[in-house]
Amino acid sequence: MGLEGRLIGVDLTEEMLAGARGRADAAGWNNVELVQSDATKYEFPENVAAIMCTFAIIHMPEVDAIIRRAAASLRPGGRLVILGMKEPTAWPRWMVRVPLWLTRPYGVSAEYLRRRPWESVASHLRVVGFREFYWGLIYLSVGEA
Ligand SMILES: C[S@@+](CC[C@H](N)C(=O)[O-])C[C@H]1O[C@@H](n2cnc3c(N)ncnc32)[C@H](O)[C@@H]1O
Repeated sequence: MGLEGRLIGVDLTEEMLAGARGRADAAGWNNVELVQSDATKYEFPENVAAIMCTFAIIHMPEVDAIIRRAAASLRPGGRLVILGMKEPTAWPRWMVRVPLWLTRPYGVSAEYLRRRPWESVASHLRVVGFREFYWGLIYLSVGEA
């Protein structure tokens, strides 16, 4: 991004944005804009260099539409990086209930684990990376425009 770059943080809640504002201020970053928005309605700027989404897209049923719009906003060579939780296919069914139970206070349900954002990354961008962690529970998906 560099000193000339602009970083935009988007979240649905004021609380999460207040935390982000605190961290940006503590680091002395004055090029950070924070936007309270539902990502499903967010108008991405044009010619974006990179988009990163961490542990958030799983909350949104409209995964494919968001990734399509995010991909369309990237400049050529721009990257979309998604880090998130998924159904660990190598685990026995009963074990999958453990992370589901642990994340239930955050609204996560079995329905969430059927969302497959990395497939939308592959539909709308050139896949340049896909990695799994914790035996497939966490994934990192990277696409390039
Ligand atoms: C587990 S937190 C992750 C927060 C942050 N990205 C991180 O990695 O620390 C999930 C976040 O997704 C946000 N979120 C859920 N649905 C959203 C939506 N439709 N649009 C924008 N943000 C949303 C929540 O407000 C919450 O802050």
